[in-house]
Amino acid sequence: MKANELIRSIIPSNPFAHTSEHATCFAPSNIALIKYWGKRNTELNLPNTSSLSISLPNKGTRTSICVNQSKKDNIVLNGKQLQSQNKFYLRLVNYLNLFRAEDHKVFFDITTDNNIPTAAGLASSASGFAALVMCLNQLFSWNLGKEKLSILARLGSGSACRSFWPGFVEWQMGERDDGLDSFGELIFQERPWPELRLGLLIFSQKEKPMGSTEAMIQTVNTSKLYKLWPEKVKQDLINIRKAISEKNFMRLGEIAEQNSIAMHETMLTSEPSINYSLPETMRTKEKIWQLRKNNNIPVYFTQDAGPNLKLIFLMQHEAEIKKTFSTMETITLF
Ligand code: DP6
Repeated sequence: MKANELIRSIIPSNPFAHTSEHATCFAPSNIALIKYWGKRNTELNLPNTSSLSISLPNKGTRTSICVNQSKKDNIVLNGKQLQSQNKFYLRLVNYLNLFRAEDHKVFFDITTDNNIPTAAGLASSASGFAALVMCLNQLFSWNLGKEKLSILARLGSGSACRSFWPGFVEWQMGERDDGLDSFGELIFQERPWPELRLGLLIFSQKEKPMGSTEAMIQTVNTSKLYKLWPEKVKQDLINIRKAISEKNFMRLGEIAEQNSIAMHETMLTSEPSINYSLPETMRTKEKIWQLRKNNNIPVYFTQDAGPNLKLIFLMQHEAEIKKTFSTMETITLF
């Protein structure tokens, strides 16, 4: 099935028919504790495994959208008008093209602001596509529930399907070829964890050398370790769900950190090798291991497709961790 056919099966009539004036929506960024890495269908962003994330309640993307009368989309990202050859511009326009009917082309003015560094491995594409889909849903009165919105956002960027809820979210990989059973789901709603914190350590705001889509394809096609990945993720998901339900913080941290290490090791063994780390990334991981070993501070890291690290810890250890990482920005998750 093609992406535009999937969209037609979710929104049967012309998606861009009934418009209201404009819409503004916010979607949170999400950080995967059990990572999505590898697709079974690249066009529909169907993953090889399920994954599990935590949303950052006040970090993400705010997008405003209205229909314009020109023959072209206008996109302003973080206050800057994007040129039509800009990568992000093309990505959004190609995504909107999936919805545009042949005989009724509608174009947009889009203003989108991230309060997280764009494309620095902090999942701004996830919150970006989620906020855009929420806006379209509102602007055209589709009245779709979050499950369907999650599927639509997934077509823009896989991890976007997890950005519709606060707290812990699991993206069920699904089995169907059309991807209608592959979407995010709020989990452990009844188990909020107010002490849980995420620390952002930013070493570089530069755009990553290789986007996740390309890096995933290269890993799946060439890494000898990749065949171990799906089974590992299955086990990690079982273990982390248990850790969350028991509020066993150390288990949660260990599982998340190990999962991130395994993803990066798998990438490193691709041909050519994919390395998202900077020297600073490695030095910081060493410091985290030392804090655990020598000072008994339960702090763990996770790393996405970029050099920056996210630390996972409990509120009562924030002050001690800040002694080592003074630039860390702490985020309360619940
Ligand atoms: C390492 O969702 O950005 O952050 O589906 O190709 O857009 P595409 O990839 P994307 O990949 C995210 C990868 C990750 C892990 C994760 O968020 O699960």
